[in-house]
Amino acid sequence: MPKVTFIDFSGTAHEVQASEGSSLMETALDHGVPGIDGDCGGEAACGTCHLFVEAPWSEKLPGIEPSEETMLNIIDDRATTSRLSCQLRVSAELEGLVVRLPESQH
Ligand code: FES
Repeated sequence: MPKVTFIDFSGTAHEVQASEGSSLMETALDHGVPGIDGDCGGEAACGTCHLFVEAPWSEKLPGIEPSEETMLNIIDDRATTSRLSCQLRVSAELEGLVVRLPESQH
């Protein structure tokens, strides 16, 4: 079970043991991480699971699919490291992953 750290906008770190195969959005919800709502259930249609992926992890993630790109394009605080956590699957390769939550989900 890879360790994943969510850092909320206030700077509080939430370190959790993630289940391989789950999405990062599901991982956050399962562990009560504040700031990730997942309103659309993981369909890349709401943007409430937006987060920023810290380097070097961003390079280990799969590319952005068109549906994710469409949603990211309408998020105000999109950055080069932005991803939708519902589109990211936990794998052993992501051990130690660190992600940050945006101000809009504070
Ligand atoms: Fe809605 Fe990710 S849960 S976009």
